[in-house]
Amino acid sequence: MKVLGIESSCDETGIAVYDSDSGQIWQRLYSQIEKHREYGGVVPELASRDHVVKAAPMLSDIVQEIGSIDDIDAITYTRGPGLIGALMVGSNLARGLAWALDKPLLGVHHMEGHLLAPMLAQEKPELPFVALLVSGGHTMLVDVRAIGHYRILGETLDDAVGEAFDKTAKLLGLPYPGGPELAVLADSVSHSRFEFPRPMVNRPGLEFSFSGLKTAVLTMVRKHEPLDDDLRADIAHAFQSAVVDTLRIKCQRALAETGYQNLIVAGGVGANRCLRATLERVTSADGARVYFPALEYCTDNGAMIAYAGALRVLAGQRDEAVVDVMPRWSLESLPVI
Ligand code: KG4
Ligand code: ZN
Repeated sequence: MKVLGIESSCDETGIAVYDSDSGQIWQRLYSQIEKHREYGGVVPELASRDHVVKAAPMLSDIVQEIGSIDDIDAITYTRGPGLIGALMVGSNLARGLAWALDKPLLGVHHMEGHLLAPMLAQEKPELPFVALLVSGGHTMLVDVRAIGHYRILGETLDDAVGEAFDKTAKLLGLPYPGGPELAVLADSVSHSRFEFPRPMVNRPGLEFSFSGLKTAVLTMVRKHEPLDDDLRADIAHAFQSAVVDTLRIKCQRALAETGYQNLIVAGGVGANRCLRATLERVTSADGARVYFPALEYCTDNGAMIAYAGALRVLAGQRDEAVVDVMPRWSLESLPVI
């Protein structure tokens, strides 16, 4: 079955087709980052408009590659969570196609897309597993017993980890979104003269908090201004170490609490090299295993939506014939399949 996936929840337009028989993926991804950079963050109205401009031509490109639009067996799209206007663009495109082609339609949970992205790899993680979802909007640990059987073990109480990376990068004078650039700067030195606190690791539980860390960086920056390149790299390194160490401690705790052997990491911050290397090291020392999506499937993309959608469509799920998006949507409310 060939399933179309449309992702438009934020500032990436992702269109993909996933073939559930062969595992083959055709995809296009367009990032609007350049459009939002001058504003230092995503401007919702600009995001919606750009999705309108880009989505249909990207779809035509993919249709040419697969042969014909009639080869698509089902249409899935990101129903939420995300920016309402941006979600509406993908939802309306999907709805229109489903009507015109008379094909099944299903709205997909964006975080389930991220969470199942490691399953797009050759070597798939076995269920059950603990999922660490780390993106610009979310930081959560999820107990995944079955597909659709999600229990949130812990979330951030304030900033998401990607947001903390981006805000810290801004304090260091890096352009938006600074997460990846901060990581490069952090990796350019092997140690730092500074050390930041590891938030919330000394009390039990699996909650996160990153706003205090951001304040600690701000205080450090103010104290040392104007920053030279060495200072910037040292602060970036100390920040990244504190974040990665915090995530590492909570992941180990979640594995111990659930008794699971498998950890998956997904979302944009899952691209972080230091996080990947650290979790590889500690899980193998603990007799566990960690799985990451390919880098192209860490950040928002259409393939993860097509994949999660395909599993649910194959299980018989369909949307009702209404245009409907969910800017806020609890992951734990999904039906088990
Ligand atoms: O999952 P994603 O593409 O979008 C959301 O759904 O939020 O994640 C984007 C976030 C941004 O905050 C970005 O700075 C961060 O992921 N990010 C990174 C890295 N690559 C992307 N943060 C740290 N290190 C990276 N290598
Ligand atoms: Zn995302």
